[in-house]
Amino acid sequence: MKNILLLGSGGRECTIAWKLKKSPLLGDFYIAPGNAGTTGYGTNLPFGYNDFEAIKKACIDYKIDILIPGPEDPLVLGIYDFIKNDPTLKNIIVAGPSKEGAQLEGSKAFSKKFMERHNIPTAAYREFTKDSFEEGVAYLRQSTMPIVIKADGLAAGKGVIIAQSSDEAVAAFSAMVNDRQFGKSSDKVVIEQFLDGIELSVFVLTDGSNYVLLPEAKDYKRIGEGDKGLNTGGMGSISPVPFADVAFMQKVTDRIIKPTVNGLKSEGIIYKGFIFFGLIKVNDDPYVIEYNCRMGDPETEVVMPRLENDLVELILKMEEGKLNEVQVQHSNRAAGAVMLVSEGYPGDYEKGKVMTGFENAKGSMLFHAGTAAKDSAVVTNGGRVLAVTSYGDDIKQALAKSYENAALINYDGKYYRMDIGWEFT
Ligand code: AMP
Ligand code: GLY
Repeated sequence: MKNILLLGSGGRECTIAWKLKKSPLLGDFYIAPGNAGTTGYGTNLPFGYNDFEAIKKACIDYKIDILIPGPEDPLVLGIYDFIKNDPTLKNIIVAGPSKEGAQLEGSKAFSKKFMERHNIPTAAYREFTKDSFEEGVAYLRQSTMPIVIKADGLAAGKGVIIAQSSDEAVAAFSAMVNDRQFGKSSDKVVIEQFLDGIELSVFVLTDGSNYVLLPEAKDYKRIGEGDKGLNTGGMGSISPVPFADVAFMQKVTDRIIKPTVNGLKSEGIIYKGFIFFGLIKVNDDPYVIEYNCRMGDPETEVVMPRLENDLVELILKMEEGKLNEVQVQHSNRAAGAVMLVSEGYPGDYEKGKVMTGFENAKGSMLFHAGTAAKDSAVVTNGGRVLAVTSYGDDIKQALAKSYENAALINYDGKYYRMDIGWEFT
């Protein structure tokens, strides 16, 4: 039996908690800080996921065997190295990469150079700073539009601008490097070619040499129907992805997954954890848009339900470096998740709205995201509030069930997109 501490408080973490709870290997289970949903699977601890001293204390007090960081921040800040460099903590299994490995997500410039070194297909790019501003402007002026401008570091999903004109591009570039729009994160900027295609998310769990492929997914990022309006943390997701057929996934494996895992190994970068490949299919070929050093949200809300293996067992095999011994099983059933959000999101919104109707939503999985327990009620506590996930024979059937139940959950200012999976239903 393994005692586990899971870091995070979103729909992704609620889903991972749900999945872990199915394992006969799960001992005592804690989530920090968790949400109203995670209390159904373990004990919430009242500290933030970047509070390393509190994490250390909890690891000791609760005799933690496995630490699972849900979000990227603690990984990019070096939670792996913090644990491994501490004599009292170093035997704890961390399901996530070293600080160096987390640079795949923590620095766009690092990940672009890594892909270049290993011939992994990605958009052509250049890197600029304030010191090379004039050069950057000249580059933008002679580039074909649209063009993509990315803050190098973490920017809470807001650091990517797709500019339609060179004036817009120069303004975005200047805001990042001269006005330090994202602070240190935008002191360096990656400018890259716009790729026109359809996106998908591919996930592996790697032990540093071997990997297992998890079910692929597609998320819907824009707030509005028809993929219009502002970017969000994700409004829904589906798995499997119809165009990710055997031939396409073979290209993903040969051109992207294997060179990435082998590249990390050959460079001596310690990486035992999830790799999330944000891909785009251009004509019939896959390109990497970004790497993340963790699972996706809301992709996890459909990926974990379709993963039939025991997640604790996978993590133990990862630690032993024996993922090559594992046969990964994906469910034949499709899964579709619809995210209920707060009115106004991704702009300003109110919290604390009482939620009702959970007991009426039958036949779906309810993964809490921004919720909190207050008195004896569940109240909204974030922009993205609850993911309603269902299984079906196909995506259409799965989503129909999710929509049926999404309608039965009530709170003031509930909003959700009605067209998740629109290309495939
Ligand atoms: P990223 O944070 O790098 O994932 O970028 C956020 C979003 O911007 C992606 O999910 C894509 O929709 C879009 N994007 C990023 N890079 C490109 C690119 N080179 N071509 C087209 N779209 C892109
Ligand atoms: N769904 C995209 C992400 O988790 O970054």
